[in-house]
Amino acid sequence: MSSAASTRPSLSSLPAAPLTLWQQFELEAALRQAMPELIGLRRHIHAHPELSGAEHQTAALVAGELRLLGWDVREGVGRTGVVAELGPAAAPLVALRVDMDALPVEERTGLPFASCHQGLMHACGHDLHTAIGLGVARLLSPLAHRLTARVRLLFQPAEEIAQGAAWMLADGAMEGVQALFGVHVFPSLPVGSIGVRSGSLTAAAGELEVEVLGEGGHGARPHQSTDAIWIAARVVSGLQEAISRRLDALHPVVVSFGKIEGGKAFNVIADHVRLLGTVRCLDTEVHAELPGWIEDTVHAICRGYGGEARVRYRCISPPVHNDPALTELVEEAALALLDRPQVRRLEQPSLGAEDFAELLTAAPGTMFRLGVAGPEGCPPLHNGGFNPDEGAIAVGVQVLTLSLLLWMERRV
Ligand code: NI
Repeated sequence: MSSAASTRPSLSSLPAAPLTLWQQFELEAALRQAMPELIGLRRHIHAHPELSGAEHQTAALVAGELRLLGWDVREGVGRTGVVAELGPAAAPLVALRVDMDALPVEERTGLPFASCHQGLMHACGHDLHTAIGLGVARLLSPLAHRLTARVRLLFQPAEEIAQGAAWMLADGAMEGVQALFGVHVFPSLPVGSIGVRSGSLTAAAGELEVEVLGEGGHGARPHQSTDAIWIAARVVSGLQEAISRRLDALHPVVVSFGKIEGGKAFNVIADHVRLLGTVRCLDTEVHAELPGWIEDTVHAICRGYGGEARVRYRCISPPVHNDPALTELVEEAALALLDRPQVRRLEQPSLGAEDFAELLTAAPGTMFRLGVAGPEGCPPLHNGGFNPDEGAIAVGVQVLTLSLLLWMERRV
């Protein structure tokens, strides 16, 4: 690890009396002790990636570690999810969520602890997230009897398929939670820094399926048939045009078709084409109206050319909307550890999706971006070369531990 953050001055710069638990906390000493083990855990998890919904070994490892640390642990919450709690039972409840799943990506980092499973890789940093969650658990456990709120840790499965949060939610993982924190690694920021943003952080995402129904015939006489391929081409371009002419440009919407199939032979007019795509937008209200708008637009295009359509829209995830007060609190905690330039306010949200949003339907919360780019930079997420700087683990553990302690004082 090479993080400057682990050598930051402690909290001594904060106002002196009366000292709160947050201010008294010997963060650095605790962290220094924990780091070698956390790095070891991260590398073990990295070497043994598991796909969404199949995080059995990871969950068992997490549950075992948490029990050793004295947390109350429940396994199988949201299938392979793990929930752990610490602190006074009747106190207000604050939560941290981290995710555990890997991706069907072939690793080519050449690291000594690279994936042992061919075709599987922690290419989205969820191995770091899991280690960070365990780090927070470790730092908080000696404080169990001094905590003024109960802390719940959610180790979530299946984030990559945007289902794990819903599974955990359905199993009651958010019941009673008053505030939720989350973190995601971010290769565009250098290690030792974080990015915060009030309001939209990530986009709503949906899956769009359009079936264009025409009438088959001979390729030589298209006027005697209804060409589904021609109409599908109209749908693909027509939707883009309609977005630019019919939707408010201040609320961007992205529709991308990633799959198209149809037709049987070079000289046969296709009677059926299937388009599969993804839809992204940042605004909750626009997102609520999008499925109906897309359906109407596609039907209008298809009918205009003599065909019919079947349209299906599946909401993958709502937008992540970061609560302003909780975001400010994370910023304050981070500023106790890092210099101002290392605590960045992100100007732009991302059109990526994150099912943390699902959990935010149950309680306000905030997710921050954790810088992981080393001196050589860092390949993008979901890339086989993705290699985050492990120094980020220390930063993530510190910022989140302090955020939880600070929440106990402020009850934002
Ligand atoms: Ni991710």
